[in-house]
Amino acid sequence: MASNASFEYLDLKPGTGSFLEDVIAGLSSSAKSLPPKYFYDARGSALFDRICELPEYYPTRTELAMLEANGADIAERAGAATAVVEYGSGAGRKTRLLVDALRPRMYVAVDISGEQLQSAVGELAATFPDVRMVAVCGDYTRPLPLHQLDMANGARRVVYFPGSTIGNFDPSDALAFLENARAVAGVGGAMVVGVDLKKDPALLHAAYNDAQGVTAAFNLNVLERINRELGANFDVTRFEHCAHYDAQIGRIEMHLVSLCDQVVTVGHRELRFAAGASIHTENSYKYSVPEFQALAKQAGFNPEHCWVDPQRLFSIHYLVAAR
Ligand code: AVJ
Repeated sequence: MASNASFEYLDLKPGTGSFLEDVIAGLSSSAKSLPPKYFYDARGSALFDRICELPEYYPTRTELAMLEANGADIAERAGAATAVVEYGSGAGRKTRLLVDALRPRMYVAVDISGEQLQSAVGELAATFPDVRMVAVCGDYTRPLPLHQLDMANGARRVVYFPGSTIGNFDPSDALAFLENARAVAGVGGAMVVGVDLKKDPALLHAAYNDAQGVTAAFNLNVLERINRELGANFDVTRFEHCAHYDAQIGRIEMHLVSLCDQVVTVGHRELRFAAGASIHTENSYKYSVPEFQALAKQAGFNPEHCWVDPQRLFSIHYLVAAR
């Protein structure tokens, strides 16, 4: 299908913490949890793509329509000479819409998974031969030594983080993450970030409890991945997908609930799950526009503009680094 073209590659050799250690640590304590980043093996990524097509899952199609409608406006704010730094591999239509609108001098994708990253940036480079393309294998939740790159002198840096992935962070981690992004942008630089909005809990509930059970399969796949990659023996029919909105905290919580008393072997460990015990697999925080703007200000951004779709489902913030 897609041909490949040349791009620069910078390998920051992110310390890929061990999957086994994270799983044992997460499942041994009394408040059991697994980091959501482990959802995305090949099967998990395919299931997530299916989630994005579900009638109940509004965020992806809403954000895409907003990028199409407002790309020219975003480009006007960013100006003619930009260097886009995207957090994530840049595989999808959201990347293409922004790059097409901004036509930056330079596009940098930062992702922890080197292989996915290189194939995504290679395909992108074939579509946009006039844009200097760089793939950086690194952890974008840490400060990035982008001085190792010649960052297109004089270009405004625009950090791009679509998808409401920022909702996976607790607010204090989201603040630290935004401070990092602000440092990458530099004074006068910008950030374009997609943020899911607070809304009728019934709509949120439906989006994370779809009728076809794709979200349930996505959630349960993390146990199957542990079986596949770590030789564990989870019986996934003995766990149930559970997602609910906590209006007080303003977040969707996803859990896997044990349906019986059971013992599972992971590595050399026997892990016990009581009936009704839950593994907390994901948080997805939702923000009102003023709530997110307050967080951005705390991180040293000036919230210059925010686009909201007509149904008030999703927001895209244009932030300018004030310090
Ligand atoms: C990747 C954080 C945007 O929270 O909506 C979708 C992941 N989880 N369905 C989200 C997800 C369950 C998604 N984000």
